[in-house]
This record gives sequence, structure tokens and C-alpha cells, in this order.
Amino acid sequence: MILENTTATETFAKKIGEVAEAGDNLVLTGDLGAGKTTLTKGIALGLGIQQMIKSPTYTIIREYEGGRLPLYHMDVYRVAEAGDELGLDEYFEGDGLSVIEWGNLLADALPRDYLELILTKNPDNLEERQVTLTAYGEKSQAFKERVLASIVN
Ligand SMILES: Nc1ncnc2c1ncn2[C@@H]1O[C@H](COP(=O)(O)OP(=O)(O)O)[C@@H](O)[C@H]1O
Ligand SMILES: [Mg+2]
Repeated sequence: MILENTTATETFAKKIGEVAEAGDNLVLTGDLGAGKTTLTKGIALGLGIQQMIKSPTYTIIREYEGGRLPLYHMDVYRVAEAGDELGLDEYFEGDGLSVIEWGNLLADALPRDYLELILTKNPDNLEERQVTLTAYGEKSQAFKERVLASIVN
């Protein structure tokens, strides 16, 4: 799927937030500037979270309550090597939606069941991103199907 500009990414992300269920895990894979944090802001809107979403680059995790589900927003870029010691499983198996920027770097410490969303820049069009969704597990397969169903409506 192609997201032609930031607004398209935000609109798509909002739908993800609308269909997410407790315990869903979303790994965001993509280069610096691909749009992982932008996407998370849209997801928060879809969850009905009013608070401003700040990049968790230095805090590793930020929790947002007050939406339909809690949002656990993580950026594991600097700490992925510590993997298991981070105690992320508590979030992955918690009652919220976990969104993990650079989650692909976690290797063995990845959630047991997660949906991976890969954002790829287009070198010929700075506004455009390509998205691929891959489910790893049954729960994330169901999550993926809800996301796909929501974008055709
Ligand atoms: N289609 C698009 N989707 C998402 N972001 C886009 C798009 N086109 C341009 N951008 C810009 O790219 C930047 C992405 O930054 P950010 O979301 O912080 O990326 P990351 O968290 O992946 O490092 C933002 O400045 C955003 O406005
Ligand atoms: Mg980011």
C-alpha cells in the first residue's frame, strides 16, 4: 500500500488505533524519518488519546491512558541489545496496545505475537511511503485483518 503524504499516513494510522484490541503489539520498522512516530501519533488519535505524543527516544517507553485502550509507545533503538532485561513483556502482554519503534532490533525479546509494519521511503518522492504488514501469530493476523477491513471502508 502507498501512503502519498503525511496526511495519508495519519489517516491510515488513525484506523489502526480504532481497530486495535487489548494486548495487540505493533512493531514499526523503517529508517530514521520513515514516519514511525508520525504513525504513532495517528494511532493515538484513533484510540481517542488527547495527550500530545512525544518521541520516546530517550525515555524508551511512554504510557498514555485516557483512550479506549492504554497506549504503550516504545522506541528501543538505543537499548535493543539489552533485550530481555528491559521487562517489555509486561507491556506486550498487558491491557493496552504496544507500539514499538525499531522493535525489529529486539530479536529474541520480540513479543510472542506481533504485527510488523514496515515503512519504506521512496527516493523519488519525499512525501511518499510504502507500507507492508506482516503478522507473526494468530492475534496479529486478526489485527491485520481488522486493519485491512477498515481501510476499504
Ligand atoms: N507519507 C509520509 N508519512 C509519514 N511521514 C512523512 C510522510 N511524508 C513526509 N513525512 C515526514 O517524515 C517525517 C517522519 O518523521 P518521524 O515520524 O519522526 O519518523 P521516525 O519516527 O520513523 O524517525 C516527518 O517530518 C513527516 O512529516
Ligand atoms: Mg521516531
